[in-house]
Amino acid sequence: MKTAIVYYSMSGNTKFIADKIAENIDADVIRIEPVKAYPDSGVRKFIWGGKSAVMGNTPKLQPYDFDADKYDTIIFGTPVWASTFTPPIRTFIEENKASLAEKKVAVFICFSGGGADKAIDKLKKYIGINEFAAELILVDPKEKSDQENEKKVKEFCELL
Ligand SMILES: Cc1cc2nc3c(=O)[nH]c(=O)nc-3n(C[C@H](O)[C@H](O)[C@H](O)COP(=O)(O)O)c2cc1C
Repeated sequence: MKTAIVYYSMSGNTKFIADKIAENIDADVIRIEPVKAYPDSGVRKFIWGGKSAVMGNTPKLQPYDFDADKYDTIIFGTPVWASTFTPPIRTFIEENKASLAEKKVAVFICFSGGGADKAIDKLKKYIGINEFAAELILVDPKEKSDQENEKKVKEFCELL
C-alpha cells in the first residue's frame, strides 16, 4: 500500500513542502486545482479566497487521478485561508470522504502567522477524525527555507 500527498497551493509554499515530503517517503503527489482559478494577486486574492474559505465553498475541481484503494495513508497539504483550510481541499474531501474512513490521515499546513491551529481543528472535524497521525505547520516555507524546516519535515515523515 502507498501514500498519497493531496495538496492545493496558490503561491508555491504548500507545493514546496509537498515535494520535500515526497523526497523523504515513497508517495504519489496529487495537486488539486479548481476549474476556476482564484485571483492570485493584489487585494482580490485575499477577498475572493478569504470569502470562499469562510463561506465553506466547494469549487469544482479539475480532473485528478486518485484511486483510494491504492493508498493506506493520505497526507493533506493546504495553506491557511482566513483561519481555515482551502476550498479545493474541502471539495476533495467531500468527493472522497467515504474512502478516508479506514486510512491513516496526516496534514501539513502553510501560513503566514495566524490561524493554523484553527484550520487544523476545522479540517479534523470536516474529515470526521479526532486526531491526525502527524501534523506539520510551517510559516511561508518557500521564502524561509532552512535547516529547521528540513528537520521538521523529516520528523513529520518519520511519524507516518
Ligand atoms: C485568501 C488568503 C487568505 C489567507 N489567510 C491567512 C490567514 O488567515 N492566516 C495566515 O497566517 N495566513 C493567511 N494567508 C497566507 C497563506 O496562508 C500563506 O502565505 C501560505 O504559505 C500560502 O501557501 P501557498 O504558497 O501554498 O499558496 C492567506 C492567503 C490567502 C491567499
